[in-house]
Amino acid sequence: MATTDMLFEAARDAMSRCYAPYSKFPVGAAILAEDGNVYKGANIENLAFPQGWCAECTAIGAMVMGGARQIVEIAVIAEKMPLCPPCGGCRQKISEFASKDTKIYLCDEVGVKKTMTMEELLPFSFETELG
Ligand code: THU
Repeated sequence: MATTDMLFEAARDAMSRCYAPYSKFPVGAAILAEDGNVYKGANIENLAFPQGWCAECTAIGAMVMGGARQIVEIAVIAEKMPLCPPCGGCRQKISEFASKDTKIYLCDEVGVKKTMTMEELLPFSFETELG
């Protein structure tokens, strides 16, 4: 199976495990990390609405806890949107563990619909001498 298909399937599977009783807007993300493993995440909401977090955050947390630190590629899917571009906060969080040419796959219900690079998704990003 092609990497893109594999990541799409993983993101769709992750989405099925979301906890989104308030927005009823399931989102899934899957990261192929530099260790060759795939790390999955879904959005997890909270009755105190701002306390919920995005699918990408869950996947990044899984990746870091799994011991990996570099996102090679990441797929994102939301069943209620033909394409779900990561929110602004998630772009910054993905960027922390990505390079400018890291690929972000935006998926619909059948597969990868659009491929973007980190640089395209978060141009003119915050950079300091720390990184
Ligand atoms: N959401 C994500 O999981 N990722 C994004 O990039 C955009 C938004 C979630 C947060 C919330 O649970 C739901 O989608 C509706 O905003």
